[in-house]
Amino acid sequence: MKFCVLFWLIAVNILSISGLNQKYSFKRFIEIELWRKPELSELYPVLSSIEISCRDINKLMRRVSTDNLCGLEGNSINIQGEDQQKLDIISNRVMKTSLCCSKSISVVVSEEEEKPCLCSDVIDNIAFSKGEFAAVFDPIDGSSNIDSGLPTGTIFGIYRKQNYNIDDPLSSVLQKGKNLVVAGYCIYAATSHIVLTMGDGVHMFTLDDYTNKYYLTKSNIQIPKSGPIYSFNDVNKKQWLDIGIEYYLNDLKKGNYGFDTKPQQRYMGALVADTHNIIFNGGIFGYPSSISRPSGKLRLLYEANPISMIVEQAGGLAIDGKKRILEKKVEEIHERTPLFIGSKQQITSLKNYIQFFDYK
Ligand code: AHG
Ligand code: MN
Ligand code: MN
Repeated sequence: MKFCVLFWLIAVNILSISGLNQKYSFKRFIEIELWRKPELSELYPVLSSIEISCRDINKLMRRVSTDNLCGLEGNSINIQGEDQQKLDIISNRVMKTSLCCSKSISVVVSEEEEKPCLCSDVIDNIAFSKGEFAAVFDPIDGSSNIDSGLPTGTIFGIYRKQNYNIDDPLSSVLQKGKNLVVAGYCIYAATSHIVLTMGDGVHMFTLDDYTNKYYLTKSNIQIPKSGPIYSFNDVNKKQWLDIGIEYYLNDLKKGNYGFDTKPQQRYMGALVADTHNIIFNGGIFGYPSSISRPSGKLRLLYEANPISMIVEQAGGLAIDGKKRILEKKVEEIHERTPLFIGSKQQITSLKNYIQFFDYK
């Protein structure tokens, strides 16, 4: 067995050098990665379920207008106090069920669920309460883009359960982001990608519509050390609690902050899409805290943490304005955080501005 895997590894490396790695499937990739990390071997069915979920949600996303999946699910409001779109609810069910069916996950936390869900309840079978891992996810990120067909995504993270207590499932998921064993996102845009890290670099897989499978199309993605993109919804700038951010952006726009390329503003209203843009082109995305949102808008557990692990694994930085996101203690499952992610140069500059103008 070891020989064939070794042979496969050599073959794959030759293929990837010759650029023929398109046919290196997601399935084959995780087989090899989990062969390298036997302590994570139970994650095979979990990662397979993520591929299937991304493929199925992508299909739903493409049929929003033809299958009347647009708009709100009646007047249902989620725990965040936000209107729930039909696709939020359907995708939540897709993610919950497929992750729990892996049997390696025993508790899930979703943006669309008020409390953690025990898989033994989701599948209504006590046999599904034994999994060693917990999953956190945002089933549809960028819900406001669904009806207009603009980019959306799914964000996911996997933790190994710690001091688990079935009577208090919270204990297994309130972990710092640096404990994540897997993090990633699916993006539903002109093409559908899965971007994944298991702690050894960031890899991208692209859906082949003919075979309905994802194939490795980019390995060990590295975010540029500096880049032109700045991605802020600055309609809120007069409300931002850290005034250094506005000074930073003003200097950045004036072009007098040593940028090698002219800055370009891009903002897609979906964290996954803006992150994907920053990872490929370099620059900075930010969602600051403000008077109306003193802790920021983005959720720490299932948005900021998985995205921050991806960005750091790609050689970028992820902070809340002052400290590393992955070091933040998670106190409750839906808590929010200010989030700044991107190239080393831009994040370091922003942090200096925030510090310099921080009179508090
Ligand atoms: P979600 O659709 O899961 O609620 O996430 C939306 C988030 C995030 O994706 C995006 O960066 C941000 O909301 C955009 O917020 P604004 O519309 O306030 O700019
Ligand atoms: Mn989201
Ligand atoms: Mn969402």
